[in-house]
Amino acid sequence: MKKNDQILSNENAKLLDEFNASIMFDKQLYAQDIRASIAHCQMLFKQNIINKDEQQLIEGGLLDIKQQIIDGKFVWNIQDEDIHMAIESALYKLIGDTAGKLHTARSRNDQVATDFAMYIRDKNYQIQNRLKNIITTFANIASKHTTTMMPGMTHLQHAQPINFAYHILAYVQMFKRDYERFASSTHRNNLCPLGCAALAGTSHNIDRDFTAKLLEFDAPTYSALDTSSNRDMVLEMLFNISLTSMHISRLSEELILWSSSEFGFVKISDEYATASSIMPQKKNPDVPELLRGKTGRIYGNLMAMLTTMKALPLAYNKDTQEDKEGVFDSIKTILISLDILNDMMKHIYINKENMEKACEVGHLSATDLADYLVQKCQMPFRQAYHITKDVVSYANKLNKDISAITIDELRASNKHLSNISEDALSCLSLRNSMNSRNSYGGTSEKQTIRQLQEIEKWLKSIK
Ligand code: ARG
Repeated sequence: MKKNDQILSNENAKLLDEFNASIMFDKQLYAQDIRASIAHCQMLFKQNIINKDEQQLIEGGLLDIKQQIIDGKFVWNIQDEDIHMAIESALYKLIGDTAGKLHTARSRNDQVATDFAMYIRDKNYQIQNRLKNIITTFANIASKHTTTMMPGMTHLQHAQPINFAYHILAYVQMFKRDYERFASSTHRNNLCPLGCAALAGTSHNIDRDFTAKLLEFDAPTYSALDTSSNRDMVLEMLFNISLTSMHISRLSEELILWSSSEFGFVKISDEYATASSIMPQKKNPDVPELLRGKTGRIYGNLMAMLTTMKALPLAYNKDTQEDKEGVFDSIKTILISLDILNDMMKHIYINKENMEKACEVGHLSATDLADYLVQKCQMPFRQAYHITKDVVSYANKLNKDISAITIDELRASNKHLSNISEDALSCLSLRNSMNSRNSYGGTSEKQTIRQLQEIEKWLKSIK
């Protein structure tokens, strides 16, 4: 940045350089920057804007610089401001004045938008891959637990018996939607900004379709004015990550609850739990807690970027340079989180006995008795509801769960039930209760297996 030495002390000038620069973090876009520059250079040659020698010289120089960066030999200098200037000045040093021809018909505005679009696209694929791994792991767990009963909850209170596979498959549905959301963002945003120049296009005879194709975009973007300050793909990425992280946080919360002594439904393997520094008997579920906790920072990155973009006038403003650190952080965090979650779930111990025992608390089959009275005795649902409430109170007095009462006890619980036939007991059985919910998307073993098969089919279809 230009500065007036009479006004700025050396120290302030250095601070200003640091304040203005993005090189410290945008250097990780070097591969995209060089790839886009090579495409641009080939287009300039094809359009007779530069000659063959110039194209070869520039391209060779760019590849040389890429190798220097990979080998750790490249010298990063804060005065270069950003990755685009750093590569350009290195190219000058390598090949001399011809380097200056590369920037014909482009600006850093379309350059950064192109680099970032390619980066986001790559990361979308990586995240989708991780989600696919998680879905595979969860489908595996589900396939072993289609008969394992657990209490399904609403308001965190025992509600109705469901099977554990069904519970896990609910998370699979969330992660599948996440997968599709990342895919659709890529699909929507896969348009090439290169050639938009500063804000309004260029007077040079460029071929934007050519560069778009070389860089594997579906087409060039439509409006240079929109493109040069469009950061929707960044915001979509931050939102998609936020939603995935929210799903992870819900599962983490359940794992934390389930691993407590109160539940005892699962045991998180020792590698994912740490000891307390003071209480020797304790194992803390640190990993799910951290997975849950990181959601806060991920939401923060989304809010920060939405706020940065708010009310920005067209077209490019330096504010948009703030688009990078948050998204780099969110991407890194979600990739690690998904890997760790996947591994933790592969090694989790499911305590089937405790899950099934927990179903015997809370009269989980009460609704089934009410439904039986409606279906078999033609009672209005409200009456059946009140009678069932009496049965629940009666069972409470006997200190029994409704699923364990005898036919005599059922008959004694309410005058309307004094002649009830013995098959009423079968609807109170927990397993029958679970399997009776056989409507599409319900918890019966049959529906759960159907759901699982559909997921397995979907997994094959995305390979
Ligand atoms: N480092 C800048 C960014 O990340 C690159 C674009 C700079 N353009 C400009 N006109 N100053 O946004």
